[in-house]
Amino acid sequence: MEIRVRVGDISQVDSDAIVVNLFEGVEQPGGATSAVDKALNGAISSLIGRGEIKGKFGEVSTLHTLGKLPAGIVAIAGLGKRQDFNLDKVRGATGESCRALRKFNCHRIATILHGTGIGGIELEASAEAIAEGALLGLYSFTKYKKPEYEDIKEILVVIKEGDKVPILEAAIGKGKLVAEATNLARDMGNEPANYMTPGQMAEIAKEIASKHNLEFRVFDREDMEAMGMEAFLGVAKGSNQPPKLITLAYRGAERSQEALGFLGKGITFDSGGISIKPSEGMDEMKNDMAGAAAVMAALAAIAQLKPKINVTAIMPATENLPSGTALKPGDVLKAMNGKTIEVISTDAEGRLILADALSYARKLGLSPLVDLATLTGACRVALGLSYGGLFGNDQGWIDKVLRAAQRAGEKMWQMPLAEEYKEQNKGEIADIKNTGNRYGGAITAALFLAEFVDNTPWVHLDIAGPRLSHKDGGYIVKGATGFGVRTLVELALSEARNQEAI
Ligand code: BES
Ligand code: MN
Ligand code: ZN
Repeated sequence: MEIRVRVGDISQVDSDAIVVNLFEGVEQPGGATSAVDKALNGAISSLIGRGEIKGKFGEVSTLHTLGKLPAGIVAIAGLGKRQDFNLDKVRGATGESCRALRKFNCHRIATILHGTGIGGIELEASAEAIAEGALLGLYSFTKYKKPEYEDIKEILVVIKEGDKVPILEAAIGKGKLVAEATNLARDMGNEPANYMTPGQMAEIAKEIASKHNLEFRVFDREDMEAMGMEAFLGVAKGSNQPPKLITLAYRGAERSQEALGFLGKGITFDSGGISIKPSEGMDEMKNDMAGAAAVMAALAAIAQLKPKINVTAIMPATENLPSGTALKPGDVLKAMNGKTIEVISTDAEGRLILADALSYARKLGLSPLVDLATLTGACRVALGLSYGGLFGNDQGWIDKVLRAAQRAGEKMWQMPLAEEYKEQNKGEIADIKNTGNRYGGAITAALFLAEFVDNTPWVHLDIAGPRLSHKDGGYIVKGATGFGVRTLVELALSEARNQEAI
């Protein structure tokens, strides 16, 4: 899909459809919406008067122009209440209106820059958000099934004056790149586990590396044995698929400068192992590698945006399956950092593979760290399906990640790394055990990970909730969401800006 800037009057653009907007509660539309309303002899204001068009966020009203305008269809995207308006609403309204127009078989659509009038948003920011909203909202996973609708081929972003065109084109370029990376993570997450094996994840990382000039490494079982990664290998024991520890490194700054470390849980299928999960909904566990996919896709975007910073990604990938060689409850494993772990549940596998990945990150000297993991059902219970749970050991670093998430439009909520629950993780016959009691499960999981980071500034994002969506809405599409990609990219960009400022 092409997204281009066009200078002119939206009501005169020759396209299959044009998109204007309305804030909730506004009775007399202004700006471009008003111009289109006039050309339609007041059809829009009359529908507002009758209460058919309300401007609620997520609403898309469509009118056929019957020859009154060059475009055949006008879509009016609801922006919601003005006091609740923000950039993420631009992404959402764009996603919604693009999906609605795709159903009408529109191939070419034109849009105004939502929110740049009374919404108070900068032109560039709106253009970037429109590119993201369109590409994310129109995503579909079509590898194994014909798509329901034809693709939209072109979006024209229509502006009144010509002098901003290059700046807006650059903003669209960035939005497009970040959305494409998110869609790459979605593709990986939507792939079934019979295709998306640890070996396949390593292949994809290798392709990304050669395409975007990243350093790629992969460690096999024997390498990991030599490094003492018994916790990771313990999880891999039950599977016939060889485990892979995958790393990608981006260098945008001096080699001597520290590198950020991004880690992602890459369980390509989580059956629970011997502590097997109930069969209902187990298919969703093909997406237990969403953290690794997000980290990998973020590096692909960072490599193209080229911030002046170093970033290394670490992605431990394996299946978690039961078998005659599988890890058993009660087994004791010695992690790479020397700590002994008593395995109470083989279903608490994410923290086991991340324990060794975090130790390896520290061995590489990466700092600060962020890990993304579909770690606990408890976090979904605590925060629901929209919010990721955020934990950390350094409030300054936590705040930076929260701000990046806010800019990216990804919802994250800080949770306590409550020291007083640490005793729940005390082992009977080993240093620690891999589950706590019934309460505070997302917290005890985070406390377990904290055992492997020591004093390195670190943030843990539990993305068990937002990794998947059960319905379309705004720029979210049913299936894998690619949650976390946009925050990581924002974070790398803002860290690079900070380092330059120093
Ligand atoms: N991958 C799951 C967590 C999960 C659950 C993600 C639901 C997405 C949706 C993780 O490996 C797991 O099984 N966690 C256990 C931990 C428990 C055994 C302490 C859980 O949450 O039940
Ligand atoms: Mn599990
Ligand atoms: Zn898991």
